[in-house]
Amino acid sequence: MSALNSMVALEKSRAEAGLWMVDAPLPDIGPDDVLIKVNATGICGTDIHIWNWDDWAANTVPVPLITGHEFAGEIVELGRDVTGLRIGQRCSGEGHLVETDSRQSRAGKFHLDPGTRGIGVNVQGAFAQYLAMPAFNVVPLPDDIPDEIGAILDPLGNAVHTALSFDLLGEDVLITGAGPIGIMAAAVARYAGARHVVITDINAKRLALAEHVVPSVVTVDVSCEALEDVSARLGLTQGFDIGLEMSGSQAALDQMIDALVMGGKIAMLGIPPGKSPVDWSRVVFKAITIKGVYGREMFETWYKMIAMLQNGLDVSRVITHRFDVAAFRDGFDAMRSGQSGKVVLSWS
Ligand SMILES: NC(=O)c1ccc[n+]([C@@H]2O[C@H](COP(=O)([O-])OP(=O)(O)OC[C@H]3O[C@@H](n4cnc5c(N)ncnc54)[C@H](O)[C@@H]3O)[C@@H](O)[C@H]2O)c1
Ligand SMILES: [Zn+2]
Repeated sequence: MSALNSMVALEKSRAEAGLWMVDAPLPDIGPDDVLIKVNATGICGTDIHIWNWDDWAANTVPVPLITGHEFAGEIVELGRDVTGLRIGQRCSGEGHLVETDSRQSRAGKFHLDPGTRGIGVNVQGAFAQYLAMPAFNVVPLPDDIPDEIGAILDPLGNAVHTALSFDLLGEDVLITGAGPIGIMAAAVARYAGARHVVITDINAKRLALAEHVVPSVVTVDVSCEALEDVSARLGLTQGFDIGLEMSGSQAALDQMIDALVMGGKIAMLGIPPGKSPVDWSRVVFKAITIKGVYGREMFETWYKMIAMLQNGLDVSRVITHRFDVAAFRDGFDAMRSGQSGKVVLSWS
């Protein structure tokens, strides 16, 4: 391990594909920050973009930078002015750092602050033995939420934010994309009282994982099955009431618009690769509402997801791979295969 005053971290050290395990200085904390000893981290699709060094990453991420934003750990040092937290407190945290002077922040809508910067993307991140973070961003973890779940609260929060965008009670819900976030959204939709929850993908392994995590979900492989046949079988006469777009695929969004009822609603988390050839006239004629979803609401999403986890929401089976950080390459390989659920690295 590292010398005093230094720590092990996974760094984007050079502007090329890969991440490197380095010795980095321990982060300094300001008066309003805390120092967190990281115990577990989740690998996100964003980290894969950074590993691959695609155009988005090359245009966004400064080099060198410690990556990673999904974490759980415990507080080991408090800045001078921090109140309400204590050393030894187990925690996760919101990786979007916000300013307080924008109109949105001053209205209490911190997640809409246009000055948002992401840890592990714009500023030093969580793939490290220690992370400095504003106390404001810290989310204490109750004892009954283990570190590996704490490490995936960020993507669970994306799923919760999206799924709770519209009232799901009694509604028929279509989720496009059975990645880790789509699968967790299916679990949340079930929890929130949806009638039918249907999830689509073009990857059979991912659909099998969706069934493993949420046994009552209906899976549809749209590469070989017609979604209309499934909705007819379920007795949906007009279509789905609510769509949660979680694939980033333009074909999936187009299919979703087609499959919705008149006046249906879409919460859109997936990030399309470019301009979209979606048939927009149908959005108008079907009077569909589309809401773009970014990040998590600070901190209502965190409150709701922790409350649900403490009261029966179970997403633990979405974690398919666990590695010690020394084997981080295996973790990234699993994630890059596109076949995994969440991959968690242990740092303790
Ligand atoms: N808006 C935000 O704040 C935010 C945050 C995190 C992730 N995201 C985005 O949310 C999406 C989901 O994240 P993830 O980590 O679960 O992604 P992922 O890439 O692991 O999963 C996407 C899934 O969509 C599937 N898919 C591809 N084409 C499809 C089609 N035509 N129909 C149905 N499914 C199809 C893929 O096979 C894959 O399993 C991604 O687009 C990601 O970039 C957005
Ligand atoms: Zn993430």
